[in-house]
Amino acid sequence: MSTVNIAIDGPAGAGKSTIAKMVSAKLGYIYVDTGALYRTIALYITENDIPDDKIEASLENADVSLKFIDGAQRVFLGGRDVSELIRTPEISMAASRTSAIPAVRKYLFGTQQKIAAENNVIMDGRDIGTVVLPNADVKIFLTASAEERANRRYKELAEKPDCPTYQEILDDIIKRDYQDMHRETAPLKQADDAVLVDSTELNLEQSADAIVKIISEKIGGGLC
Ligand code: DC
Repeated sequence: MSTVNIAIDGPAGAGKSTIAKMVSAKLGYIYVDTGALYRTIALYITENDIPDDKIEASLENADVSLKFIDGAQRVFLGGRDVSELIRTPEISMAASRTSAIPAVRKYLFGTQQKIAAENNVIMDGRDIGTVVLPNADVKIFLTASAEERANRRYKELAEKPDCPTYQEILDDIIKRDYQDMHRETAPLKQADDAVLVDSTELNLEQSADAIVKIISEKIGGGLC
């Protein structure tokens, strides 16, 4: 039986993961956060201090895997659950850099395709609709203005110690957008057949509702 694949791409901080989780819970699909895979490779490279010219050869020892525990994705590096460790600003920036390396993308390509072939998925990333799942049943490109994305992130971090300033967060977002959109291999861009959802003026519920509506219009009867 073929599986239903939904691709959600877009820039950092557009709310992809939160919204994709809400939508996948509604549909009973598995939510796959592919950014976590790139982050885990970045952690591997950082922890082992691997120089650029050794990255490709080192990948065969990386041992990155995903597990779905009670429906939630956990990511493992050499059997160690690193799902929280990969969420630092340093790893965000390192992941943006390492994800530009073609060998890294190639290494993670098969993992992503296999999960989508075996499960009904909502998969989020940067190149899901363009490269990983070009035949996805539904493709969404979810974005929001850089200022609004920085604003949301700032509100999320404001309570925490060592919170960066709004301007630092905005600069970081603009830099990552630039890196993700201008790399040679699989840059972040909207697939020709993706539907654009701009969440600048929408809250999470409204964004999730807009996406569920697009999905039901596309695959109608396939929805539970
Ligand atoms: O979605 P995220 O912020 O966790 O992703 C971390 C980095 O990984 C991001 O800067 C770009 C990269 N990435 C990618 O190149 N392709 C994907 N499918 C997912 C993430």
